[in-house]
Amino acid sequence: MKYVTLGDSGLKVSRICVGCMSFGDRRGRFSWCVEEEEAGHILEACYQAGINFFDTANGYSNGVSELILGRAIKKYCMRRENIVIATKLWAPVGYIKGDEFEDPLTKYPAPDLLDQNGYVNAYGLSRKHIFDSVDASLKRLDLDYIDLLQIHRFDPNTPVKETMKALHDIVESGKVRYIGASSMWAHQLLEMQYTARLHGWTEFISMQNLHNAVYREEEREMVPALAKFGMGMIPWSPLSMGYLARPYQEYTESERGQKMGGKFMGKDLSDADIKINQKIEEIARKRGTSMAVVALAWSLSKPYMTAPIVGMGKIERVEEACRAVEFELSGDEVQSIDVLYTPKEVVGISV
Ligand SMILES: NC(=O)c1ccc[n+]([C@@H]2O[C@H](COP(=O)([O-])OP(=O)(O)OC[C@H]3O[C@@H](n4cnc5c(N)ncnc54)[C@H](OP(=O)(O)O)[C@@H]3O)[C@@H](O)[C@H]2O)c1
Repeated sequence: MKYVTLGDSGLKVSRICVGCMSFGDRRGRFSWCVEEEEAGHILEACYQAGINFFDTANGYSNGVSELILGRAIKKYCMRRENIVIATKLWAPVGYIKGDEFEDPLTKYPAPDLLDQNGYVNAYGLSRKHIFDSVDASLKRLDLDYIDLLQIHRFDPNTPVKETMKALHDIVESGKVRYIGASSMWAHQLLEMQYTARLHGWTEFISMQNLHNAVYREEEREMVPALAKFGMGMIPWSPLSMGYLARPYQEYTESERGQKMGGKFMGKDLSDADIKINQKIEEIARKRGTSMAVVALAWSLSKPYMTAPIVGMGKIERVEEACRAVEFELSGDEVQSIDVLYTPKEVVGISV
């Protein structure tokens, strides 16, 4: 495994990050995820392969993803000093009571609805919720500290100054080592970073955003902003939720593709999406490897890339993800994928 620092920080992470949204409770929104026993074997295989970077969130399967990761760390004797545990806050964590599994964001999609239904102060980026959420994540993970605490989205209802001071204080408390951000507009990131800098508070070291060969809108504003701040980029859905790992006609044959209705974030596949998929398939065939390896190698070829966060619901995915780290695409191959891209509507940002 290769390790690089996360942005300009001293924190070393593997070039593949494990996406722990794939591990959880199938009764929730992520009905395609794998549950604890199977997830444990995948997490162990990742650790054995030298992957030291794990990304989860308070809201994944109502906290079950954090529980599974925390138990696997103990069960497979992962050395705490070597691994980097990243989690997130912002989303409300629903309750699980017997057979009831409430998904608050789906059931109560607006803040006033959340407030009226038991989630007042239990989401967003207020000082109160940041402190509560970190304690709850630490309890579920059964750890003393979180390596990278990420804000999952921007919160328009909390002053930026309140959020940045609370994040700084939580780092000072020792419960969190570093902070990171996730999908937002570049101007929101700039406001947050400059607020922290103005006051000498802790700044974000990473951005977890949507980026892959069929979604490159982040390259316009976000990628240059990250360079300005020395932040690492750790994109989600580098395989476009599995679409880039198989011929496009077979996308709906996967459980995930079926759940997405053959679309990506509710959008139909474009001609460019199909051409990019075919190009990746052609390169994979020529080079005698899988499409997943080519799609991840494309991600890893980008100079601004720290580590793509890969969702792996099967143990054999681990070996392929690691293979991508060693696999080099030629400049012409990268270019042949790049030229096919056409701009698209921005998705995955809250406000
Ligand atoms: N910050 C955010 O807002 C946000 C949003 C979404 C996700 N995330 C993070 O990003 C992580 C990854 O997201 P994602 O799951 O959408 O990413 P992804 O890696 O683009 O897609 C994962 C899908 O690709 C398939 N896949 C992976 N390797 C494969 C291979 N070698 N061959 C064939 N299929 C393969 C998996 O199938 P199988 O399940 O069959 O293995 C899975 O369905 C999440 O776990 C989470 O940590 C963050």
